[in-house]
Amino acid sequence: MLADDVVDCHVLVIGSGGAGVRAAIEASHYGDTVLVSKTIVGKGGCTTMAEGGYNAVMREADSCGVHIEDTLKGGAYLNDPELVRILAHEAPLRMGDLIKWGAVFDVTDTDEIAQRPFGGQRFPRTCYAGDRTGHEMMTTLVEKLDGTKVTLMQEYTVIDLLMDGETVCGAMALDDKGRFVLLKADNTILATGGGTKVYDISTNSSSGTGDGYAIGYRAGAELIDMEMIQFHPTGAVFPYDARGRLVTEAVRGEGGVLKNIKGERFMDNYDPERMELSTRDVVARAIATEIQNGRGTKNGGVYLDVTHLPREQIETRLPVMLEQFLKFGVDIRTQPMEVAPTAHHIMGGLRITPECHTALHGLYACGEVAGGVHGANRLGGNALADTQVFGRIAGLAAGTAGKRDTSIDLMQIEQQQDRLDAFHSGTENPADVRKQLQQAMWKGAGIFRTAAELQDTLKTVTKLSKANIRAASAQNLAECCILQNMCLTASLICRSALIREESRGAHVRKDVQQKYDAQTSPFGHTFLSQSREGIEKKEAGA
Ligand code: FUM
Repeated sequence: MLADDVVDCHVLVIGSGGAGVRAAIEASHYGDTVLVSKTIVGKGGCTTMAEGGYNAVMREADSCGVHIEDTLKGGAYLNDPELVRILAHEAPLRMGDLIKWGAVFDVTDTDEIAQRPFGGQRFPRTCYAGDRTGHEMMTTLVEKLDGTKVTLMQEYTVIDLLMDGETVCGAMALDDKGRFVLLKADNTILATGGGTKVYDISTNSSSGTGDGYAIGYRAGAELIDMEMIQFHPTGAVFPYDARGRLVTEAVRGEGGVLKNIKGERFMDNYDPERMELSTRDVVARAIATEIQNGRGTKNGGVYLDVTHLPREQIETRLPVMLEQFLKFGVDIRTQPMEVAPTAHHIMGGLRITPECHTALHGLYACGEVAGGVHGANRLGGNALADTQVFGRIAGLAAGTAGKRDTSIDLMQIEQQQDRLDAFHSGTENPADVRKQLQQAMWKGAGIFRTAAELQDTLKTVTKLSKANIRAASAQNLAECCILQNMCLTASLICRSALIREESRGAHVRKDVQQKYDAQTSPFGHTFLSQSREGIEKKEAGA
């Protein structure tokens, strides 16, 4: 038997975060659309966990030009300028869609959408719903999705794309019982989100396992800038189980200050002009440096203090933070929080055109799995905007693309089934391998890097990727496939980090003597695919 089930559609959307749901809503206007999700739609993914906000130009005093400049500067000029232009111009329109569909954002006394300052932006451009902005967006998107004809396939894990030569014609998936399912499609959208779960300490939900990077790479797509990992400056440091949990940038946007164990407001030494509202790469390095130099707290963090703010401001603008820290035994109205950097976002990803097309026919990508929008460092608040802007574009492009006359190569299905069968006779516990991977990545591919450490880490990752992992039952097959995706994503990060012999944005190579700054760097994107890898170089004088 070829498969336990076969589904046919015009557009297949893989992933149900903000980008995936937005893409499915759009694609549904043009033909049968299937949305396949590892989790229950609206419950998994990172969008729903996003706290701080959505960047959009909403005031006369602001402009798309300034939003573009801020994004390019914040991204250390590695961004694709056309993608940035689209982001800035379309973010307000997509914000309008959300509001029309019922999203409730905070407003000012004069009933305008309220905006708060976020790092690296010259205008307070971040729209918000308290500190649960992503949740408000996802609730709205899922309600809108419910009113469409999109078919939901929930708790299905896509394990690879279906190919006809170099054309993508759908995907292979496992359902929650481990049954093998074929999803045939004219056009496929990868919207699988990010992958910082490859690190021991991460803000990502359990679904941030890098599936899309691995699936895309195996199918032959090209990935760019995979070395560019954003470490969010402020993750929780205790209790142990909550390590890495996001402490939103909105805390600093509302006026929170960072202090070391000596009570010094140390950002003065790193970016005296922008202080706590410097870009994330700068603030994360500053905190890491304070901790490394012995000026951290005994829990391994620094203080983030809002006790000088009016209680009402904390209670109304940061209710989730207040509640979260109360559960940890800290009342942020009277006590400082303790925070340290945590792996948060991958700026790199599948190379896309402005229409979200990848290098493969029939394959589109949007949201965090796509690279190029954020360059070497993403501005806080630009990710939620990215999901809506590029989710819509991908849905439109895939929906309006024609039908494809493809025939599936049966060999790939047999190979996939052999791969799954092998897990039944494996010996190693996937959870142990996963932990080793996360610890190796945290130790050797973190905020500060050297070639020697990256090579060591890559060696470990390569060894772990060959582990003879065991699926105790059919239900555990997906876990094994996901672990292999994590290993491949981790290896793409290490390989790209070795290729980029410069420090730029979030990527700091301590072993490289820096000869130029971001604007004069001769380097462009790193790129990796099955057929080539390297780094783009600018022509002299260009
Ligand atoms: O800090 C935050 O609220 C995260 C926002 C973002 O990553 O855009």
